[in-house]
Amino acid sequence: MQVAPSVLSADFGNLQRDVEAICEAGCDLVHVDVMDGHFVPNLTIGPVVVSAIAKCATKPLDVHLMVQNNTFFVELFAPLKPKYITFHIEEEKHPHRLIQKIKSYGIKAGVVLNPHTLPEMVEYLLEDLDMVLLMSVNPGFGGQSFIKSVIPKAKKLHDMRNKINPDCLIEVDGGVSDKNIQQLKEVGVDVVVAGSYVFNHRSKKEAIESLQI
Ligand code: DX5
Ligand code: ZN
Repeated sequence: MQVAPSVLSADFGNLQRDVEAICEAGCDLVHVDVMDGHFVPNLTIGPVVVSAIAKCATKPLDVHLMVQNNTFFVELFAPLKPKYITFHIEEEKHPHRLIQKIKSYGIKAGVVLNPHTLPEMVEYLLEDLDMVLLMSVNPGFGGQSFIKSVIPKAKKLHDMRNKINPDCLIEVDGGVSDKNIQQLKEVGVDVVVAGSYVFNHRSKKEAIESLQI
């Protein structure tokens, strides 16, 4: 299981210290939550801060867009060369086209599904996707409770992905901790995002290792 700590739970007054700490603690990716105050009722960071994160991170960035104008934000973040850019399918009229655009920059492309969105929504996109991210909370804030229906949903997606594109990773985001990691592993999840669990733990290294099962 790969682990992507969410910088949303970092201390933004000590951002460099916290980004270096999760990288040194052995995380696999650095998860960056970009919120625009329209698609979700919260506003976070733009390219100025994300480029500062990119400079001190020694692990690749996983940029999660929670925005209305996906193409505009993809163009803004592509020069920072994250490993992944993921966008919400609920907010995109032409997901197939946007996936090709992300990949044209040499960046891996992923689609995000809100808790209510059917996994079948990605069926005809799967062969082009590098990642599908399933939200296990409503997007917008860290520290929320894990929505359990993501477990059967991940299982369904796992079966579909194995048939169509076994290389496409399944990521789960929201409320992930040592309490649900085993279940996520059992249904074939490849990557987990963890914000409050990692940043509130007495040892970031212990927290990350407890999820890398
Ligand atoms: C929520 C974000 C998550 C969040 C995870 O909109 O996409 O990445 O920061 O935080 P926790 O792990 O605290 O739920
Ligand atoms: Zn996220």
